[in-house]
Formats: sequence, C-alpha cells, structure tokens
Amino acid sequence: MKTSKQDGTRIDEIADGIYRISTPIPPSAMPGGFTFNQYLVADASPLLYHSGPRKLFPLVSEAIASVLPVRDLRYIGFSHFEADECGALNDFLALAPAAEPLCGKIARMTSVDDVALRPARALADGEELSLGRHVVRWIDTPHLPHAWECGHLFERRTETLFCGDLFTQGGHEHRPLTTADILEPSEAMRGKLDYFSQTRRVHELAEKLAATSPRVLGCMHGAAWEGDGAGLLRELAQRLDGPLAA
Ligand SMILES: [Fe+2]
Ligand SMILES: [Fe+2]
Repeated sequence: MKTSKQDGTRIDEIADGIYRISTPIPPSAMPGGFTFNQYLVADASPLLYHSGPRKLFPLVSEAIASVLPVRDLRYIGFSHFEADECGALNDFLALAPAAEPLCGKIARMTSVDDVALRPARALADGEELSLGRHVVRWIDTPHLPHAWECGHLFERRTETLFCGDLFTQGGHEHRPLTTADILEPSEAMRGKLDYFSQTRRVHELAEKLAATSPRVLGCMHGAAWEGDGAGLLRELAQRLDGPLAA
C-alpha cells in the first residue's frame, strides 16, 4: 500500500490500483472538522471519482501527480452535481485534453452538458465501462442520499463501491481505510444535518447497491471502510426507515 502526505492532503492506495485522496478541514475552518475525499483509479484510462471543490484543486492535482500525470486523466466521474463532487471538473478538463465528465444520464441532462467544458459520457443504470484492468458500473439511486441525479459507482475487480455521501463521517482525523464501525458516526452526522432526502425507495435502492456485495466502501467524507458492505447498506436502510437520530 503506497502512502504519501503533502500539505495535509494525503493519498493512500486502499485497494489494488485505487487511491483515496483526502484533505482534512480542521474544526477552526469547519465546525467539528471534516474531510473531502476523491478516488483515483490508476489504469490505462485513469478515472478520478469526484473532483473536489475548486478551492482544493491545487492540493488534489498535486496528490494525483504523485501517482500519474494529471494530463493523462481520461474520466472525471461524480455521484451528483454539487461543488465537492464536481466543483473542479472544468479545471481538470482544461488540464487533461482527453478527459470527459462521467456521470448518470439525469446529471448530463440537467446540469453537466450546460456547465462542463466538454460533453459528458453518461452511463445508463447498470452500464459498465472498462478502464483497463478495472471495470466500473453505474448504479442509479435517485435521492439516495440526495439529488435527483444521484448514483454510485461500483468497481468490479476490487469489489469497491464508491458510495459518495453515504456513510458520511464528521471530524478531520481518519484512517484511510478502517474496519471499525462507520454507521454510528454517519448516523450522528445525519442527526445533526439531515442530509438525506425523504425518499420512500430507501430499501429498494439500498438493495440495488447491496446486490454488488462490496468489500470496500469508498466514502467521500471520512474513512473508507472494509467489510461486509451489503450488510452495512441494509443496516443503513433500516435506520433511514426509522426516526432521525438524536
Ligand atoms: Fe452531496
Ligand atoms: Fe459530498
């Protein structure tokens, strides 16, 4: 497992060819502290999943450059259209001439093809895309946790589910990859911020994700997690069905 750390932003290989880039935001800058994570899939067609907000672009691109040239990026993918997911999208498209935005069809229709420097490559629900050794599959999950265009990306070879804002953990000090519980910390975050939509399709959508039987969950905020991903997704669905955590 390769690890390097620069200016507080660190990059760690959490599965074969999959790197978690994480920038801690201390409590002095954001109450309770927080992290913004991106995932780099190093392959023949390199994918950056989540661009990070524009303000973090210099740090994120420097971290990528420790693994591969930023101009070689082929896809800039994201779960839904928010600044921490895709704020620096155009900065990366400007630097990487072959890069395309990678998202779901709703995101392309509602936002991306209007805002991005180049047209998006949109994946249909269940559609797969080969990056070389790695193959990613798009899974539509409208409004889970939020946004009509929301979806998540599963990487087959490493059984990694890039689960975006699901299992968001507060705080700015996290291990890159943990087997410790992340459900209670993310439920505590939900109790404070109520960032989940009130969709009635929680069980059905969680089951779509659980059907991939992920071994690693690539969380966008907090530690990545290793374990029985299907079981944890079903536990989350049960909790979402109940009252909001205190
Ligand atoms: Fe979000
Ligand atoms: Fe996010």
